[in-house]
Amino acid sequence: MKFFIDTANVEAIRRAHERGMVDGVTTNPTLVAKEGRDFRQIVEEIASFVKGPISLEVVSEDAEGMMKEARELNGWIDNAAIKIPMTWEGLKAVKMCAEEGIKTNVTLVFSPNQALLAAKAGATFVSPFIGRLDDVGHYGMQLVSDIVEIYNNYDFETEVIVASVRHPVHVYEAALIGADIVTMPPAVLDKMVNHPLTDVGIKRFLADWEKVRKVSR
Ligand code: E4P
Repeated sequence: MKFFIDTANVEAIRRAHERGMVDGVTTNPTLVAKEGRDFRQIVEEIASFVKGPISLEVVSEDAEGMMKEARELNGWIDNAAIKIPMTWEGLKAVKMCAEEGIKTNVTLVFSPNQALLAAKAGATFVSPFIGRLDDVGHYGMQLVSDIVEIYNNYDFETEVIVASVRHPVHVYEAALIGADIVTMPPAVLDKMVNHPLTDVGIKRFLADWEKVRKVSR
């Protein structure tokens, strides 16, 4: 299972990278806006140490505008994946990107049929938004499970990125389903290592080792 980090904060990505847990990065306009910095500069800094795919989102709403942006963003770094929203115009752009060898990540996916369309258009990645579905009372992870089953039925090569992840249980459930990738905020990765019994266990081992030290030469 690949771990992507869902942020445009370079320091947070670097921290996760130093822990050996970054297979790629996803950004979106909201995450980039939070940083208050030049987009291209952020992207180049991330690409200086992240070798896996870095998702960069277009903001045009027509296929032609999306393609113009896709070509430009793709020229910034060697490992861009162009994030394109799930619309008919977006799907046209995805198909053109596939023909030009530009990697794509179809975003804002909320139904199995949308994911099916993305795969047929030749998307490299598809991003079902789990947390946002949970927020409106749907069981988001069911969508991931449906997409994985559909893609397996037809051997689609599009990889599933579980997105809009809010907590470690989302990662656990995605892993049980066998999703290719989870993209998570740095805070979720931080929490994954924690368990109170691990802390108690370490404390006890250290205390007992003190007893060994006292009787050792
Ligand atoms: C990832 O590709 C998405 O941009 C991100 O996971 C959205 O998360 P949110 O629903 O928490 O904004």
